[in-house]
Amino acid sequence: MPSSVMITGASSGIGWALARELAARGHHLALTARRLDKLEALRAQIEQDHPTVQVAVRALDVTHYDQVGPAMMDFAEALGRLDTVVANAGIGLGEKIGRDPFDNCRRMIETNLLGSVATVDAAVQYLQTQGRGHIVGISSFLAFRGLPRSAVYSATKVALANYLQAVRPHVRRKGIDVTIFYPGFIDTPLNQMLPHRPFVISAEKGARLMADKMARRVKSAIIPAWPWCLAKWLFRLVPDRFIAGM
Ligand SMILES: NC(=O)c1ccc[n+]([C@@H]2O[C@H](COP(=O)([O-])OP(=O)(O)OC[C@H]3O[C@@H](n4cnc5c(N)ncnc54)[C@H](OP(=O)(O)O)[C@@H]3O)[C@@H](O)[C@H]2O)c1
Repeated sequence: MPSSVMITGASSGIGWALARELAARGHHLALTARRLDKLEALRAQIEQDHPTVQVAVRALDVTHYDQVGPAMMDFAEALGRLDTVVANAGIGLGEKIGRDPFDNCRRMIETNLLGSVATVDAAVQYLQTQGRGHIVGISSFLAFRGLPRSAVYSATKVALANYLQAVRPHVRRKGIDVTIFYPGFIDTPLNQMLPHRPFVISAEKGARLMADKMARRVKSAIIPAWPWCLAKWLFRLVPDRFIAGM
């Protein structure tokens, strides 16, 4: 059954591809990011391909925490209701421990963790008034083990996953499901500068896999499952000396 899905960070990458995939499945969309021109272009594409799908867009910086709830309420009014909220907005700034400006660390924590918490918190407040809903958070494979070149990024992703694991039992009785995604490498501007992206998949394939899992309201999923489910365990066993340059 078509539902209304809000996605943060829909102007690029996974958010963009997920919006297109969900539109193809007939869902109405509430799309946010800082770059409104990109969202408008996405809306135009979706409306052309799927004329029956309603698309609302709005500029929203998730680090303006007090603006997240009001944006959600505006979308709910525009679309009639919201059923699902995807906390997807995130940044990775490439890291050199002890040499980067601290500001980079702060920005990653504010966007990936605090921005997502603000999104999930507002979603819980809104969805519990309906007595049903679905919250989706995008963690990362790096939640399973921090890497030196993504130290703060990894920390934001494990913190987000733990936060969502704690939210899940709290909202279960309010009829709200929580899904946590742990993607491996998905081809987006976030990682296109990296020299190696093992087992990388396209954003379209990643979005398809995520939409399938969202439809089943799974608690969590590694995207794609193979080979990352196996790599997850190996990754934890690799000695520090092999991780040092990663
Ligand atoms: N690609 C991967 O391999 C991979 C793997 C694991 C997890 N992830 C996670 O997946 C999510 C999406 O990443 P992606 O790969 O699709 O990267 P991306 O192509 O760079 O997209 C990131 C999105 O986040 C938005 N964003 C960034 N800062 C924001 C802010 N302060 N407020 C609102 N929106 C903001 C960006 O839009 P604006 O710049 O227009 O605001 C953009 O739409 C992130 O949370 C990332 O950590 C990605």
